[in-house]
Formats: sequence, structure tokens, C-alpha cells
Amino acid sequence: MNNIYNSQLYSDVCMGLGKKNKTLPSKYFYDKLGSQLFDKICLLTEYYLTRTEVSILEKNINIINKYLQNNLSIFEFGAGSLQKIKILLDNLSVENYIPIDISFEFLNYHSELLRSDYSNIKIEPLYADFNKKIDYQKNNFDNYNNKIGFFPGSTIGNFDPSSAKKLLKNFGEFLGINSKLIIGIDMIKEKNILLNAYNDKEGITAKFNLNILIRINRELKANFDLNYYKHIAIYNDNYNRIEMHIISLKDQIVKIGDKEIYIKENEIIHTENSYKYSEKSFLNLAKSSGYKKINSWNDKDKFFNVLLLGYDP
Ligand code: AVI
Repeated sequence: MNNIYNSQLYSDVCMGLGKKNKTLPSKYFYDKLGSQLFDKICLLTEYYLTRTEVSILEKNINIINKYLQNNLSIFEFGAGSLQKIKILLDNLSVENYIPIDISFEFLNYHSELLRSDYSNIKIEPLYADFNKKIDYQKNNFDNYNNKIGFFPGSTIGNFDPSSAKKLLKNFGEFLGINSKLIIGIDMIKEKNILLNAYNDKEGITAKFNLNILIRINRELKANFDLNYYKHIAIYNDNYNRIEMHIISLKDQIVKIGDKEIYIKENEIIHTENSYKYSEKSFLNLAKSSGYKKINSWNDKDKFFNVLLLGYDP
């Protein structure tokens, strides 16, 4: 393999496909095409999450502001939608904005676009994997005041509860005692609404899911034949989560470098979980990471929840 990142991808892929129940980590969805497909998903009629969260933020940002100080330092975990961060930058008193992302390209693009519109805010991208513990001492944010974390989009739902708990704890330790976190979660709701959101008519989610195989073909010189794999998304009631799978349409062998992997007809590769919460179940999880609720806001259908939490372990 030609670089460290590919070798990490290689070992993660081999580990996932070597298991009895095959898996691939969803963090590998987001190459250039995957990120573009995700942007398209966010605009789909069936995918209510993005527009609902944006409307909750827009409607309540002035109330949220009342709980916050001036001269904030906002740390966004995952350089996501400019639309969402702009609601914060436009309406809160922000001194520093630190988008944190693993994609160098995306991070720079995101930061450059904002710099032209927000010359009064110091925009300081941090290239890091927020899934791992961020070395805050090394990154020297000690002299920043009024730290706020921003973790929208229900990205927390892509972590299983024990990883989500660790992740929130890491955020708290990174931002410090009495820091705050604005976080978006997707709520448990009628099953069909959830199923439609992950099985859209246009097939964009299917392309997004299957793109992980295209990426592995390209970056690891593998030979998945895309004609023989299909996207499915199911709702698992036991865990309150949407599961995305890729199903094999025949018995086949895939080569990844010099490794051969046997995949049976109808065998599934589990690519993503998207956990749905009630406010109560999410607050229990947050509490076990040291976070307490300050306030929260819903849309009228209670499809999505935006919470303001305080780190007070
Ligand atoms: C990024 N994340 C919150 C999305 C979700 O809804 O779990 C990813 C996604 N997967 C399929 N569609 C969107």
C-alpha cells in the first residue's frame, strides 16, 4: 500500500470482511464522491433530518444565544454543512471558529469559503480525527475562552452507544469543565418514515452506500463487481437503529491486494448504524459522559431534537 491512510483502510477493510458477520466502517463513506452524495441526501424529500435541524436552529438561535457568553470559541466536530454553522456565526458572538475534520481537502475548502464572508472571526481549521482522542494540550487551545462544541446532523447516531459515550466524554475533556455542546439527534419515530429516509426513491442512498466498494476498488486495488451487490436499509427495533447493509447477489470471491475473500449469495456486509433516540434515552447517555441538559428544542412533529448541554462531570 502506498501510504499510511491506505494501510489503515486496508487493515480496517480486511478486519471487517474477515469477520463472521461482515462489516465495513461507515467513516469510509466520505471520499470526494461520497461527500457529494451525502450532500445530495441532505436535500432529499425523504431525508427530513437536515432541513428539520436547520429550521430548529434558525427558529431558536436567539434563545440559545441567551444561554451563551460573548466571544465564543466554537469547535465543530466534522466540518459539515456551511448552512448550519452560518446560523451560529450570524447570530452568536463568535471570536474563534475551529472546524475539526479528517479530510484535509474538505476542511480547507470549508474554511476558505467561510473566511471570505466572516473576516471578523478567526477561522482555524484543525486537521484531526475526532473519533480518536484529540490531543488538546498539543493543539494549545488552553487560552481560548467560552468553548462551545457543535455536533449537528445526528452524527452521534452513527456511533454505537458505548462509543458515543466515549466520544462525548472526549469532547467534554477536550473543551473543559463548564464548556457547552450544541448537539443534534434524530428521534425515534414511525418506522416507515425512517425506512423511507434511508431507501429514497431516486436511489441516492443506495449509491452512497455502494460507493464504499468503489472506493475500496480504487484505493486498495480490489475487484468488487458492482453489478452483484445491492443496497438495503432496515430498521432494527431491538436497538432503535437503521442499519445499512450491502447484500451479495451471488456467491463470489473478491480480491483485495493479494487477499481473497469469499462472499456467499445473500450474505450481508453491514456498513452503517444510525441510532435513533428519545430525549430521555439520549440524556441518560450524555449524563454518563458528564453532560447535563441546559435546554432542548424540537420541531412540531418531534422528528429531531437540538440540545444544549453543559459539561459538568
Ligand atoms: C451522517 N449521518 C448522520 C447520516 C445518517 O443519517 O446516519 C449518514 C447517512 N447514511 C445514510 N444516509 C445518511
